Amino acid sequence: MDDRLYGSFVEHLGRAIYGGIYEPGHPRADGRGFRRDVLELARELGLPVIRYPGGNFVCGFDWEDSVGPAESRPVRLDPAWLSVETNRFGLDEFARWCSELGAEPMLALNLGTRGVDAARSLLEYCNFPGGTRWSDLRRAHGRAEPYGIKLWCLGNELDGPWNIGQKDASEYGRLARETAKAMRLVDPKLELVACGSSNADMPSFPDWEASVLGQCYEEVDYLSLHSYYGKGPAGLADYLACSAGMDRFIKSVAAACDFVKARKRSRKTMLLSFDEWNVWYRAVAERRHDDPWKVGPSLLEEPYTFEDALVVGCLLMTLLKNADRVRIACLAQLVNALAPIMTRTGGGAWRQTIYYPFLYASRYGRGESLRVELGCPRYESPSYGEVPYLEAAAVSSGEGLAIFAVNRSASEPVELEARLGGFEGLVPLERIEYAGYEPGAANSEESPDAVVPRRVAGGFEAEGGRLSARLAPLSWNLLRLGRPGAGR
Ligand code: AHR
Repeated sequence: MDDRLYGSFVEHLGRAIYGGIYEPGHPRADGRGFRRDVLELARELGLPVIRYPGGNFVCGFDWEDSVGPAESRPVRLDPAWLSVETNRFGLDEFARWCSELGAEPMLALNLGTRGVDAARSLLEYCNFPGGTRWSDLRRAHGRAEPYGIKLWCLGNELDGPWNIGQKDASEYGRLARETAKAMRLVDPKLELVACGSSNADMPSFPDWEASVLGQCYEEVDYLSLHSYYGKGPAGLADYLACSAGMDRFIKSVAAACDFVKARKRSRKTMLLSFDEWNVWYRAVAERRHDDPWKVGPSLLEEPYTFEDALVVGCLLMTLLKNADRVRIACLAQLVNALAPIMTRTGGGAWRQTIYYPFLYASRYGRGESLRVELGCPRYESPSYGEVPYLEAAAVSSGEGLAIFAVNRSASEPVELEARLGGFEGLVPLERIEYAGYEPGAANSEESPDAVVPRRVAGGFEAEGGRLSARLAPLSWNLLRLGRPGAGR
């Protein structure tokens, strides 16, 4: 599997940047205005890739505004979020922030109001060594070395009527192809992501996929998927089943890609970039029509609970189980807006509940994602059909084996009995359990550690390739196995 399954996303949206990762004058901010407390929490997540600067924001973004001396950058209206964009945090700040984090930047292009020309000038600015108009401008801005950005999104959600510059599929597919062509002439090794549908409920899904790829199949490397999940009137059991919806979505998009592959007699298999996924259903007022045009307003600040963490744990397992096809995934987003990390402007930073399943998956879920055959009772979810009470994924690495498991039942424990073919020599190393909380329990600045996973002593048995564990009702679990005598 590709480690980039554990990516994230930072958009110019609400307090994601202003009051989030960037807050000059904050007691924990460094000389560049980066909040060290936020950086430390983000670093702990081990994020390999960060998508930027949008999102919907990018559909009206002029990249030229975000470079050069910060004090001379223009202040602009951001129509995506009805906010004021100061451009104090821009391309160079993002690249530096990523390098502090050890993450690869994934840059999204504006194919809403702009097009091929802006894309090629931005590429020249970022990646060409010097001696040309845009590369020399970068050098004049104090950055002699190119940024060397390899991963680019060809726009964002251009099927969406909420975006400025919305396009129909054939218009967008052609634009994606011509943009990719212009960029690859400069650097054939770039990795390019074309926009899939904004979500599986779009009326044009999956015709959009087939039509867009009909235009640009050979020119791009990935097709994007976006999806947000939420708790509806059918309640918790239904909500916990939403990873079955994610699985179906991935398989449908893969099928649409393979249809185009067959039609084109292509040898290439299109890979997938699930570059926006998360839980999002409470903070649904997307724009502040009542109080617009602020810098860094509070937007999409979803207060995540214990049940959301269980869902995020299931969604991560679904990504892992589809890791043959999904090579990049970005938890949307990282700070304040739909985020595992929350801050108070001028105050503290803390971990929301969804931080933890992501942390442990990112830390221990790297290596080879194994096929898991599950035999367990099932229940009927009104929205997603029949789902098993147990969700599980397994990843093998040089260190051993990591098994992730969620018990969706609110009342019954699961007696997990597993046969670990090929891993007979491994013994239990550690068990982490996230359980025993009310579904609506959450962390806050005052109680940042109210809802945290715990290490369970002697929490499972494994011998001769057989494993047994009792999984509590409504629990997320990590069972780690290693060679006898291996450290933790
Ligand atoms: O992540 C919030 C928004 O959701 C993004 O800006 C957009 O791409 C999606 O609709």
